[in-house]
Amino acid sequence: MTRMDRPVVGLRRVADLEPRADPGHEPALIDAIRAEIRASGPMTFARFMELALYDPEHGYYTGESSPPGRSGDFLTAPESHPIFGWAVARQLEETWDRLGRPGWFTVREYGAGTGALAAGIIEGLARAGSPLRGPIRYRIAERAPARVGQVRERLGSIGAAEVLEPDDDTPVVGAVLANEVLDALPVHRVEGREDGELVELFVGLDAAGELTTVAGRASTAALLARLDGEGIRLAPGQRAEVCLAADTWLGDAAAGLARGLLLIVDYGHPAATLYEPARGSLLRAYVHHRVHDDPYANVGRQDLTAHVDLTAVERAATAAGLVHLGTTTQAAFLAGLGSGELLVALQQDSETTLQAYLDARSALFRMLDPQVTGRFAVMLFGRGLAGEPRLAGLAFRTPGRA
Ligand SMILES: C[S@@+](CC[C@H](N)C(=O)[O-])C[C@H]1O[C@@H](n2cnc3c(N)ncnc32)[C@H](O)[C@@H]1O
Repeated sequence: MTRMDRPVVGLRRVADLEPRADPGHEPALIDAIRAEIRASGPMTFARFMELALYDPEHGYYTGESSPPGRSGDFLTAPESHPIFGWAVARQLEETWDRLGRPGWFTVREYGAGTGALAAGIIEGLARAGSPLRGPIRYRIAERAPARVGQVRERLGSIGAAEVLEPDDDTPVVGAVLANEVLDALPVHRVEGREDGELVELFVGLDAAGELTTVAGRASTAALLARLDGEGIRLAPGQRAEVCLAADTWLGDAAAGLARGLLLIVDYGHPAATLYEPARGSLLRAYVHHRVHDDPYANVGRQDLTAHVDLTAVERAATAAGLVHLGTTTQAAFLAGLGSGELLVALQQDSETTLQAYLDARSALFRMLDPQVTGRFAVMLFGRGLAGEPRLAGLAFRTPGRA
């Protein structure tokens, strides 16, 4: 059994009944990456990940054949059932209330993907007869421009196209959301050395022209500074990822929030846990609902992710002027928001078929199950938003969390 077979890797996995062959590299992309390495020498892993996921023409998310979603390579919680969005809608309504029910409440969602969360939220407000259904407006901040159209279609299909506004930099009064976005930000890879120094792991080419890992001097002092600042010293030979891009992302996300809530859901750990020597690298690749640890396979046709450093996120958010309201698990967050009641209401609805109820129930169980996505971290930050009494999503305290 490889490290990849341990339960930790099954985070976004749903079983594929008929395993499919690997798709192979995106030919033009792998050629471009090889050419860049031949011309300029080994590239940082962050540069490689940037190209593999976000090359404008051939990147996994941004390319023309961008696949993720139900029929793609993984399934996120909001994609698995709208009950996730119904629960988040409750948190948004509470936020709107605490802000004094402003006339417009704007949600800016980063990495909205296929629009599953957006649709779930709007549907959840409508199902509950929430007074927020009128004032809510929605903006999409997506690196994959084609996805904005997908979200528009998705909202149109539930009769809610009018909530969508073009995105711009105007700070919102409302909420900023990011579900499984930070794990998709490019990371640098490093390795500890006997003398306590760090080396960086670059992407180079072997004699046959295949991608390979090459160790060298760190490309930026920020890598060591990040780990030092967190009191982390990697053991000799310990490989790890450092996401410097999270700082910029948090700065932008915070700047876009005039008043309200920043809600981040992702898999990750505080630095002291993330960088425990026994964990090793937490870089993962997803393809066809299978997870493995070879980032150099299927370049441009597989997702690449790294567990999120929650300590770094909290520091960057507070440095950007936000107040940390709390961090909990996805299970506790959904429980606090009454996801059980939402399921019971669905069951009692005479329009609900048995199949629809069973689908919702099994999806919710996976969202709550710590072996599936229940242990994901949910981080709540506010600006001009009262944190007491605790927001409903933070009502259940979880051991070891703020
Ligand atoms: C794993 S998918 C999650 C999609 C969706 N949030 C969900 O839960 O189903 C990550 C998404 O984040 C987007 N993304 C990555 N970095 C981003 C950034 N800096 N700004 C906006 N979107 C980003 C990608 O294009 C992709 O759609």
